[in-house]
Amino acid sequence: MAEGSVSSESSGLFPSLFLEIIRSPLNIALLGVITLLVYKIVKSRQNIPEPIPPEPELPKLRKDFTVEELKKYDGKGPDGRILVAVNGKVFDVTKGKRFYGQGGPYSAFGGRDASRGLATFSVVSAKDEYDDLSDLNTMEMDSVREWEMQFKGEGQYMYIKFCA
Ligand code: HEM
Repeated sequence: MAEGSVSSESSGLFPSLFLEIIRSPLNIALLGVITLLVYKIVKSRQNIPEPIPPEPELPKLRKDFTVEELKKYDGKGPDGRILVAVNGKVFDVTKGKRFYGQGGPYSAFGGRDASRGLATFSVVSAKDEYDDLSDLNTMEMDSVREWEMQFKGEGQYMYIKFCA
């Protein structure tokens, strides 16, 4: 007897719960909000963007550069390569194009010798001719060396060769 009453209660549980919910407009509104949220969650899971494939690496350059030659590598060329010289070394900073490419905060260094700018904390274009940095003081030269170490040390930038 007791068993029968339990089974009739459990079989009627969902319909009665449903009736209870739709009886109140507030419950209907809440049900609507919950349905909408569940729909949005399910949809957002379906729309997971594809991972962006890494850009193919450019072949390594092996040469000395004059200031004039360096200018071609400011990221605006067909291959998008960006070179930056620091303390007489040339670094391929193409991977850091968000910094050195067009519109980046350090775009003035792209295709240039950045030594003087880095030494003097100035994000302006370098001289148009070769800069021997001979007028920089000891602190400024130390700063240039530290930047050079940072560029070398990070490992993400390919070090090419001495800048002519
Ligand atoms: C208000 C002034 C500045 C702020 C707030 C600032 C901020 C930053 C930040 C947050 C980074 C690291 C970005 C990252 O790794 O995701 C960075 C990197 C860098 N900053 Fe600045 N910076 C400032 C001024 C300067 C100046 C004056 C120079 C040079 C003249 C400079 C040169 C650099 C360079 C070369 C990098 C390395 C980018 C790379 O990883 O290749 N910054 N800066």
